[in-house]
Amino acid sequence: MISEAILTSMKTADADQSALGDHAQDGLDVLGETSLTQPHPIDAVLEFLGCVTPDAWVAEALKQIPLLLQDHANCEKKAAGTAMNLMFRYEVHRELQIKLAQLVREEMLHYEQVLGLMQERSIEWQHVSAGRYAAAMIKHKRTHEPEAMVDVLIIGAFIEARSCERFSRLSGLVSDGGLARYYGYLLKSESRHFKDYLALAAELSAEPITERVALFREIEADLIQGTDPVFRFHSGVPA
Ligand SMILES: [Fe+2]
Ligand SMILES: [Fe+2]
Repeated sequence: MISEAILTSMKTADADQSALGDHAQDGLDVLGETSLTQPHPIDAVLEFLGCVTPDAWVAEALKQIPLLLQDHANCEKKAAGTAMNLMFRYEVHRELQIKLAQLVREEMLHYEQVLGLMQERSIEWQHVSAGRYAAAMIKHKRTHEPEAMVDVLIIGAFIEARSCERFSRLSGLVSDGGLARYYGYLLKSESRHFKDYLALAAELSAEPITERVALFREIEADLIQGTDPVFRFHSGVPA
C-alpha cells in the first residue's frame, strides 16, 4: 500500500530532477524500473563497496520492518543534517554548495515520505538510538583541513552507497508491495548521492583519494560483516 500523497511526492521529485537537467539520464523511472539503455545505478555501488550485505542482516530486516522504518527515517534526517553542516563549514566550495543543497532537499523529502509510510502502516514513532556504523567510521577521520573534509565526504559516499545496496536488496524481498516500490524508487537518488560525495572528495582533495577510499572500504566492510549487538539500517551481522 502506498498513498496518493507519497506517490505524488515521488513523481514530483522525479520531475524536479529532470527539470534541473543534471540527472535526467539516471536511467530509472519513478517506479524503480531501469531503462534498457542505461546501466543500473546499483552497478557502480557494488563495485565501490567492499562487500555485499550478509543474508543474516536481510533476514533480520524482513522481521523488523517497523524498527527499520523508524531508523530509516532517522537516517534520512541525519543525512540532511550532516550535509547542512558541511555546507556551513565549507562555504567557499561552490560545487559542494550546489550538490549538497540538492542532497539536503532530497533527504528531507525522503524523511517526509518515510514518516508517511509509517503513518499509513500505523507504526508509532519510537525513540531509536544511533547504531555504531557512522560513528565507527568518523573515528578514523583526519583532524586537519582539508583532509578532515575529504574524509567526511568519503564516509558520506560509503553511507550513501551502503544505503543504496540495502534498498536494492530489500526492494526485491519485502512482501509489502508499496514499500518494495519505495525502496526501488530510492536507488536513483541514493546512488547519485554516493557519486556526488565521491566526486566532491576527489575534487577537493589536494592528492589522490585512492588510499583513503581503500582504508574506509575496509573499515566499512568490517562493520557490515562483523557481529553487531544492535540491529539498525546500517548494522552488521545480527548477534
Ligand atoms: Fe535519502
Ligand atoms: Fe542519500
